[in-house]
Amino acid sequence: MDLNLQGLRVLVTAGASGIGLATARAFAREGAHVHVCDIDEAALASLATSDPGISRSTCDVADATSVARLFHETQLALGGLDALVNNAGIAGPTAACEDITLRDWERTLAVNLTGQFLCAQRAIPMLRQSSNASIANLSSAAGRFGFPLRTPYAATKWGVIGLTKSLSIELGIHGIRVNALCPGSVAGPRIDAVFASKAAARGVAADVVREEALAKTSLHRLVSADDIAHAIVFLASKLGANISGHALPVDADTQALV
Ligand SMILES: NC(=O)c1ccc[n+]([C@@H]2O[C@H](COP(=O)([O-])OP(=O)(O)OC[C@H]3O[C@@H](n4cnc5c(N)ncnc54)[C@H](O)[C@@H]3O)[C@@H](O)[C@H]2O)c1
Repeated sequence: MDLNLQGLRVLVTAGASGIGLATARAFAREGAHVHVCDIDEAALASLATSDPGISRSTCDVADATSVARLFHETQLALGGLDALVNNAGIAGPTAACEDITLRDWERTLAVNLTGQFLCAQRAIPMLRQSSNASIANLSSAAGRFGFPLRTPYAATKWGVIGLTKSLSIELGIHGIRVNALCPGSVAGPRIDAVFASKAAARGVAADVVREEALAKTSLHRLVSADDIAHAIVFLASKLGANISGHALPVDADTQALV
């Protein structure tokens, strides 16, 4: 089996760290041409040193003007687009619903949901020109289960699945595949912070939350950023040519979120 990704033109949003960086590197290892954006200029500067072959733009995906500039720069850097990885997403607040500010609610929706919409809008005309076009939208296990104390995040991640299913039907006629990824808890600093916030909100130790989370997975482990990256790369390859409209869990068989 050959992924055959030589020359595939890929844009990964929020590609300067975490799952986005793992995905950008996985594509680059397979010979794809990769452009990333991120809101964090310092992280982009460090990427320029560590991975000079990956081109970069500064962008806030929640801002329509910034996204328009990103796609102009992507066209200049890649000369077209075959795969969009809508990865940017923030954790949002961890709090009881009645304590969440409207500002926090709106920012979570703006980055996690509107950001994917804005990038898809700009990507579609470019993807229509491709013979192997795909979009991967990052949802979450929180897009499959209820997630107490994380209502803005869960609402956006369920929304991503609605966006994905609808776009898959709408774009199938153009040969564009659209899938969502539903990662479970990914080992790393972000999930450590999530466990710590949830523990603080519940008044228990962070290890208690971590153990509860592991107990809800059949494989009793966290997943890695590379696990998610490999699934995204497969879906963008010709091997995934007939897979569209799905929300794929990569989550060690998570049964519920705590
Ligand atoms: N880490 C997990 O456990 C986990 C689980 C399920 C789903 N996800 C989803 O996977 C995606 C990536 O998560 P991660 O854990 O790698 O995140 P991360 O926090 O490690 O990295 C996020 C990156 O996004 C960038 N970013 C933040 N706001 C942005 C914006 N408005 N515009 C552009 N870039 C922005 C940050 O600068 C950072 O580089 C997210 O959509 C997240 O919701 C993560």
